[in-house]
Amino acid sequence: MPHINIGVLASGRGSNLEAILQACEEGRITGKVVVVVSDNPEAFALERARRRGVEALYIAPGKFRTKLEPEIEQQYVKALKDRNVDLLCLAGFMRVLHADFINAFPQRILNIHPALLPAFPGLHAQKQAFDYGVKIAGCTVHLVDEGVDAGPIVMQAAVPVMEDDDEESLAARILEQEHIIYAESIQLFAEGRLRIQGRRVQILPPNT
Ligand code: GAR
Repeated sequence: MPHINIGVLASGRGSNLEAILQACEEGRITGKVVVVVSDNPEAFALERARRRGVEALYIAPGKFRTKLEPEIEQQYVKALKDRNVDLLCLAGFMRVLHADFINAFPQRILNIHPALLPAFPGLHAQKQAFDYGVKIAGCTVHLVDEGVDAGPIVMQAAVPVMEDDDEESLAARILEQEHIIYAESIQLFAEGRLRIQGRRVQILPPNT
């Protein structure tokens, strides 16, 4: 089985990072998280990485709120390249990446989003879905392009909205599925089973 080096960018709590680390440990992902980088020195994701002996880096994001300064993007790219990252996973990284960053890892950046894209991109997706009154919510793993929560879809999971849900209970139900489909998507990448054709990502059968 191929073995990939994974880099993770995370801004906060890091439960998706934890799910990835766990899946690597259990062999559900044939790869290793080689570095976690955050734009937030307080991110619990950094602590989770350290606790598991994974290198944790804080790189200050610069003056913008929703993006990184170009020179700082290059610092991120260098940190990832220096560690031979094959696949970059955004796990609750709350900044948009620009072309130079994305082109440094062509078709090698995945993101998890807590909605059934293309519905409800952007911030607070679970609240957007709840407030809209959807009966089916969910989450999406997709390749990253320059759009916000855009890019070809790798995997989605649907989650029912219950009559007694509030935003928190719905978000928790979605999060459980995020952890499952993110690890599965990463393993499909590791096995070379994602064939990207325009917006469509075909999942190839095993051993092709
Ligand atoms: C997750 O719900 C993830 O889908 C979302 O941030 C949360 C991070 O949680 N990402 C986005 O909204 C991206 N647009 P975590 O830090 O516990 O993984």
